[in-house]
Amino acid sequence: MRVAVFAGDGIGSEVTAEAVRVLEALDLLKLELVYGDVGGVAYRKHGHPLPAETLEIARSCGAVLFGAVGDFSCDHLERHLRPEQAILGLRKELGLFANLRPATVFKGLEDLTTLRPEVAEKIDLLIVRELNGDVYFGEKGIRTLDDGRRQGWDMMSYAEDEVRRIAHTGFKAAMGRRRKLCSVDKANVLETSQLWRDVVIEVAKEYPEVELSHMYVDNAAMQLVKNPGQFDVIVTGNLFGDILSDQASMCVGSIGLLASASLAEGTFGLYEPIHGSAPDIAGKGLANPMATILSAAMLLRHSYGLEVQAARIEAAVGRALADGIRGGDLGGQAGTKEIGDAVLARL
Ligand code: NAI
Ligand code: MG
Repeated sequence: MRVAVFAGDGIGSEVTAEAVRVLEALDLLKLELVYGDVGGVAYRKHGHPLPAETLEIARSCGAVLFGAVGDFSCDHLERHLRPEQAILGLRKELGLFANLRPATVFKGLEDLTTLRPEVAEKIDLLIVRELNGDVYFGEKGIRTLDDGRRQGWDMMSYAEDEVRRIAHTGFKAAMGRRRKLCSVDKANVLETSQLWRDVVIEVAKEYPEVELSHMYVDNAAMQLVKNPGQFDVIVTGNLFGDILSDQASMCVGSIGLLASASLAEGTFGLYEPIHGSAPDIAGKGLANPMATILSAAMLLRHSYGLEVQAARIEAAVGRALADGIRGGDLGGQAGTKEIGDAVLARL
C-alpha cells in the first residue's frame, strides 16, 4: 500500500497530519507513505504548483491523500501558476473522472443542519458526479452576432462511453450500500440527458440487484431538502452534480466534516476534504481534521477494499462527535490535535 500524501497549503498540513496518525494507528503492515509538495508550498520550493516529481509520486502510488491548496500570497501569479492548478492538474493527469461525496448526519449534530432534525437525521446518501465531461469541457466562447449583440455559449455533450463509465461507478457504489441508485438528469428538455438516461438503463441490466430510479434535476433539488432520506446513491453529470453535491453538504452541517473521493478507472483515487486551505485559521491549530480523517477512510474503502478499517474510522469519528468533541466549525472548542487524539482514542 503505497499512499501519496500531498498536504498543500494553509490548514492542509495540520489536517493531513491527523489523518496520517489515524492511518498509522490501524497498523496496516504494508502501509508506506510518500510525501510530495503541491500548491503554494510547491511553487515556493520548485516554481510550480504541481511539480513533475509530485506527479511522479502520485503515479507510483495506489492512492493520494490530499489536504488543501489555495494560498493568498500567490494571488498575483498567472493562472497556470496559482495553487489551485495543482488539484486541476492532478484530476486531468490522473484521469480522475468520478467525484464521490457522502452526506451523513452524525448523531448529536442534528441541531446543526438547517433542516428539521427529524428530516435531517435520515440523510445517508452518496453523490456520484461525473468530473471530466459535460458543459464545463465543451466548446465555449463569447461571440458578436451579425446584429451586434454579444452571445455567450457553452456546449453540453456526453459520449455514451463517458456515461457508461460513471454509471458503473454509481451502480458499484450502490452495491456496497443500500442498493438504490437514482440517476439525475433533465431528459424532458435536454438531448444529452436523453442519451444519459438510455445508457444508464442499459448499464442497469448488469446490476439486477440495484433498484434504479430517474429524477429530473429540478425535482432532485426539491427532494434533497424535502425528503433526503429517500436517497442512497445519486449519479449525475458534472454540472448538476456540482450544484447538488454542494446543496447536499449543507443539508448535513459543517464544512469540517465533509469528505470526498475522486476516482480513476481501476482502484486509483485521490481523497480530500471538500474545504479549502482556510487561510483565516491556518497555523493556529484550530482546523477540524475530521473531514480529512473521513477522506482517509474513503481511501481505504475505495482504493484498497478495506471496508472494515474504513468503517472503524467512521465509527470512531461518529463516537467522538456523539461524545461532544466539537471543533470551532461546529461551535466547539476542540483544536486540531485534540480532535485527532479523540478519534484515535476511540479507534
Ligand atoms: P475554505 O473552505 O478554505 O474556508 C471557508 C470557511 O470555512 C473559512 O471560514 C474557514 O475557516 C472554514 N473552514 C474550512 N475548513 C475548515 C475546517 N477543517 N475546520 C474549521 N473551519 C474550516 O474556503 P475559502 O475561504 O473560500 O477558500 C480558501 C482558499 O482555499 C482559496 O484559495 C480557495 O481557492 C481554496 N480552495 C481549495 C480547495 C481544494 O484544495 N480542493 C477547495 C476549496 C477552496
Ligand atoms: Mg462546487
